[in-house]
Amino acid sequence: MAENISSDSQNAVVRTAVTDLFGTRFPVVAGGLQFLANADYAAACANAGIIGFLTANHFPDDATLRAEIRKAQDLCGDLPFGVNIAMLPKSAAHERIEQIVDVVAEEGVRFVETTGRSPEAFLPVLKNAGVKVLHKVPGLKYAEKAQSVGVDMVTIVGWECGGHPGPNAIGSIVNAALAPSRLTIPFLIGGGLGHGSQVLAALAMGASGVLMGTRFLAANEIPAHVSYKNALCEATENDTTISLWSVRNNARTMINETTRIVAELERAHPDAGIEPLLPHVAGSVARQTYLDGDTSRGMVYAGQALGFVKKTQSVSETIEQLITEFTEARTRLRAYL
Ligand SMILES: Cc1cc2nc3c(=O)[nH]c(=O)nc-3n(C[C@H](O)[C@H](O)[C@H](O)COP(=O)(O)O)c2cc1C
Repeated sequence: MAENISSDSQNAVVRTAVTDLFGTRFPVVAGGLQFLANADYAAACANAGIIGFLTANHFPDDATLRAEIRKAQDLCGDLPFGVNIAMLPKSAAHERIEQIVDVVAEEGVRFVETTGRSPEAFLPVLKNAGVKVLHKVPGLKYAEKAQSVGVDMVTIVGWECGGHPGPNAIGSIVNAALAPSRLTIPFLIGGGLGHGSQVLAALAMGASGVLMGTRFLAANEIPAHVSYKNALCEATENDTTISLWSVRNNARTMINETTRIVAELERAHPDAGIEPLLPHVAGSVARQTYLDGDTSRGMVYAGQALGFVKKTQSVSETIEQLITEFTEARTRLRAYL
């Protein structure tokens, strides 16, 4: 069992509402990663002094999700972990959100990251079970809505992010500077963040922490093929693009054969809907990339923070690097004051 970082705030590198809520050492949150963020990854985050969210949606039924949560509880002990619940923008018959929420509440999970649409309908169950809810949104107007329905904290992701940056094309530094005048609850900033100096900058702008996804993708503890991780390390901030405009579900992924085909299809048939795109963009194709390491096809989710991913290392080594960068930036800043 790892030493108990969480209950000892004396160990915090910097104390914010985020480190206080989660009982962590550094105000970085590792967001849900479909097919990748499992109990081992969440435990690696916990042991590194941050919180990680295992992704509920890739477990096919209640029993496998329950087993993964129990595994995370065993691995983390007193250290924190959370469960990511990604919803579709509009509820769909095949979603299992109610069941997932029930499992999370029954298993005594303490923290949930929701995203996709308002978590309002699920807040009574989660709050009754004492679960703290961090809702993730791709724009300030959605953050204000989340605040009004009673979430505990909100994360605003900018246009640079891996995954779904929403329709507004607003960058993280704009979100960060505008958020304090619009929100009263603590907020985190995500999207394109992968360097400790950005953590300091986000705190300076009023955020209580930052969210990272892409920065951790090449971590040893991420369950994916080594060739996939090598491709991430070789890629730069220039190697991602946005697709799926035509179906209003913008996604930032690595540029590859699939994004070229999808761009062509969206240009030629802007009103055709998702059907012709599905064979290329289905989650099963991306999942294959994690298994065989071939990044030339599939929607390989990643953001501009790829520029910071230089080598495969443990989550804990990455956190130590971020803390060093954070401390160096603080020293640089002090020289100006
Ligand atoms: C490979 C990958 C998979 C992701 N899967 C999910 C997911 O299942 N649920 C979710 O809420 N966010 C998901 N995200 C978004 C991340 O949790 C996070 O919001 C995003 O990575 C932050 O921006 P960054 O990539 O610039 O760090 C994913 C991101 C990536 C890169």
